[in-house]
Amino acid sequence: MGSDKLKSFVFFIFILTSITMLIIRCTPEKKFHTLSTFFDGVPDSTKKTEVIVASQNAQNNDTSVIALVVAPKVPTEGSIHKPFAEEKCTSCHAAGFSNSLILPPSLLCYTCHEDFSKKYKVLHGPVASGNCLMCHNQHESKYNRLLLRKGQDLCLFCHQAKQVLSNAKHKTIGDKNCTECHNPHGGEDRFVLIPNP
Ligand code: HEC
Ligand code: HEC
Ligand code: HEC
Ligand code: HEC
Ligand code: HEC
Repeated sequence: MGSDKLKSFVFFIFILTSITMLIIRCTPEKKFHTLSTFFDGVPDSTKKTEVIVASQNAQNNDTSVIALVVAPKVPTEGSIHKPFAEEKCTSCHAAGFSNSLILPPSLLCYTCHEDFSKKYKVLHGPVASGNCLMCHNQHESKYNRLLLRKGQDLCLFCHQAKQVLSNAKHKTIGDKNCTECHNPHGGEDRFVLIPNP
């Protein structure tokens, strides 16, 4: 009997500790750290890669020169949103347990970025409706500029390739980026064309 009581007491303490740990860890910043610790997929921007480069000075044939270079890990493609990398989670999220946002996405982005409706006469459809997240990820991406998809795929996610290609203006585009001629956010005419591409 006594040992059973001891067992349930130990179990009770274990549950209590686990809950406390969970609560302590549940701010967005802490969750980020937890994720970074447990899964390799979450990049920790503060980590630097140490690269030891044994460099041979070709000019004077001095092979004894060994340079220790501490270089930040710079991916050739991919992007991390600055406030996310800097763990300023609460510039977008309410502090506390949920991931809720301080503003709906359609207004959130413009708290830091210039309002495109002030910059362009005509807005591209999804920009006009505040759907930034149809093209960008809020945190990070394996592509540049936080984009969700690459090249023409970004645009052909919504626009039908068949219809686009049926336009004479597109006959010769090949695999050119659509953004070589169109501004993804807005422009001066309804076709959001970049002036003299
Ligand atoms: C620039 C604004 C911004 C910053 C900074 C930001 N987030 Fe987010 N976060 C968002 C938006 C927008 C969503 C998507 C919400 C939706 O889809 O409704 C989101 C979604 C999430 C989600 C839900 C799952 C997901 O990834 O879609 C988690 C978890 C999260 N954020 C954690 C964090 C943490 C932790 C940080 C700080 C390291 C952070 N966020 C910083 C804007 C931001
Ligand atoms: C708290 C301020 C803040 C908010 C809110 C914010 N951003 Fe940013 N964003 C930044 C900063 C800072 C940069 C980096 C600017 C620079 O390097 O010149 C940036 C850069 C970007 C870039 C360029 C990334 C690159 O790799 O070049 C994109 C795209 C972007 N933000 C989209 C968004 C979208 C979409 C939202 C809304 C979901 C949003 N931002 C909300 C601060 C913010
Ligand atoms: C149709 C897709 C699409 C939508 C929707 C979209 N963007 Fe972009 N955005 C892009 C592309 C493509 C680039 C890269 C442009 C380049 O590098 O020339 C970009 C670049 C950016 C940049 C980097 C600076 C710049 O202007 O090049 C910011 C900031 C940005 N977008 C914010 C936003 C915000 C805020 C919204 C919503 C109001 C939004 N974007 C909606 C496609 C989109
Ligand atoms: C999230 C869906 C979505 C994505 C992604 C998207 N568009 Fe659009 N686009 C729209 C909507 C909605 C309209 C407005 C309705 C319409 O006219 O078809 C529009 C309109 C346009 C127009 C004007 C069409 C007209 O007849 O006036 C052009 C040009 C255009 N988009 C080019 C692009 C390019 C280039 C990209 C990639 C950078 C892109 N779109 C990505 C949804 C999207
Ligand atoms: C070489 C420049 C160029 C490229 C690259 C280009 N466009 Fe266009 N696009 C134009 C011009 C010019 C127009 C205006 C057509 C007109 O006046 O009828 C146009 C019109 C459009 C329209 C509205 C008319 C229609 O056909 O529905 C859409 C949508 C569009 N482009 C989408 C795209 C998409 C998606 C891509 C990438 C797959 C792309 N464009 C690549 C030059 C280009």
